[in-house]
Amino acid sequence: MLCLQLFYCSIFLYKFIVGAKSVTVKLGILGLGTVGTGTVQLLQEKVGRHPLLQEIEIYRVGVRSLTKPRAVELSPDVITTDLEAIVNDPAVDIVVELMGGIEPARTLILTAINNRKHVVTANKAVISRFGAEIFTAANQAGVYVMLEAAVGGGIPVVQPLKQSLSVNRINAIMGIVNGTTNYILTRMQTEGSDFDDVLADAQRLGYAEADPTADVDGLDAGDKIAILASLGFDGRINREDVHCEGIRKVTKTDITYAAKLGFVIKLLGIAQHLDTDNSQLSVRVHPTLVPQNHPLASINGVYNAILVEGEPIGQVMLFGPGAGAGATASAVSSDILSLVATLKTNTNKPNPLLTCRHQHYSQITPISELVTRFYTRFLSKDQAGVIGKLGTCFGNYGVSLESVVQTGFQGELAEIVVVTHDVREGDFRQALAEIQAMESIDSIPSVLRVL
Ligand code: NAP
Ligand code: HSE
Repeated sequence: MLCLQLFYCSIFLYKFIVGAKSVTVKLGILGLGTVGTGTVQLLQEKVGRHPLLQEIEIYRVGVRSLTKPRAVELSPDVITTDLEAIVNDPAVDIVVELMGGIEPARTLILTAINNRKHVVTANKAVISRFGAEIFTAANQAGVYVMLEAAVGGGIPVVQPLKQSLSVNRINAIMGIVNGTTNYILTRMQTEGSDFDDVLADAQRLGYAEADPTADVDGLDAGDKIAILASLGFDGRINREDVHCEGIRKVTKTDITYAAKLGFVIKLLGIAQHLDTDNSQLSVRVHPTLVPQNHPLASINGVYNAILVEGEPIGQVMLFGPGAGAGATASAVSSDILSLVATLKTNTNKPNPLLTCRHQHYSQITPISELVTRFYTRFLSKDQAGVIGKLGTCFGNYGVSLESVVQTGFQGELAEIVVVTHDVREGDFRQALAEIQAMESIDSIPSVLRVL
């Protein structure tokens, strides 16, 4: 055992100190699906890109099936189904995890780290849940874990938060970080289509997975905003504390009302301080009424955008393709190049701009303490005094109304749409529970937060 450790140590030191300039950097890539294939294609087309690409060798690629047709040419001795052998191979310098899922990805990443290999990953699910374990192991082993592709696909956002914006005090990070749901909401808005019809189209076009749960229920966006929050607010985020609501309940009726009121509905991931002394951090995902003149309102289709508000920078918006082979490969490759540059510069001192520098967990404020505006749609019996009763009940809980609209009917039922001023969510929910129990109220089909 000691001999094996000494062997790894000597290889590690050799690569860092002695032979770096003359030896190619060997990649062990786990996964050759959408992102893996895009990455291999990009790394193989060395001409006219970055000179450091000449220093890279695609040494091993791990897959599940050896018989599946592949869109890239790789020699048969490069492709293997033995992924453990890749992460344990002393010749591999960088492990590039592009397989997705929790296991075996987590174990393979940890094994690579323990073998003192740098890691690049696009896996937001594993990083948002096991980031603490992975980064602690990486810091102990003196290696880097790079994750640019895990959030926003091709959009550079992880390195900008870690480097370019690092001296700023971040007040808020909010964004459209899931392309599938933005595509669905955009089509519902522009065509007046129903959620189920557009989802079926998104699946047919390959945007949404056969099991669309992670996208549609806001879980993928939850993983991504948890990662962004940990970078921007300098503390680990317990993924279970991130409140996630998806878009299944958003209807074309609400999209139409929102438009009349001057809003578009977007699924936003939001991480923000709720108070001036920065003691309360809210991290959440939910469909949101966004004012039509807000920078995020015009981000349509499968595109993503992340708006960062910091001091002294003010607002910065990062916009681009949030998914897809080429775009995501661009982000993966930038991480690979950063590591190759590090390996080639013969330094064995950790670069504090690349390491994870925090160990504590940020305290996340429960959603009931959020102060926000609400849009709510009620179906009520067409009786005199209903709006008055709504106003009185809201007033009893300190909920002040910004607008009340009654324009339509659904059958015999009157449709009333209310937008509140800022209110503590817990108080608003108590008022709603009381209103729900009123004899004149049939149902409350929609409750959405307003930016
Ligand atoms: P994918 O198309 O499903 O590809 C997964 C690859 O991993 C396949 O090549 C598969 O092998 C291999 N694989 C999976 N489980 C394996 C196992 N247990 N053993 C051996 N090989 C295994 O996935 P993807 O869309 O490229 O996504 C990869 C990662 O990138 C995920 O973490 C995803 O969240 C992230 N990401 C994706 C996008 C995107 O646009 N797709 C954007 C940003 C981030 P076979 O080919 O043999 O089946
Ligand atoms: N399913 C994700 C999306 C892929 O739709 O944005 C990129 O992470």
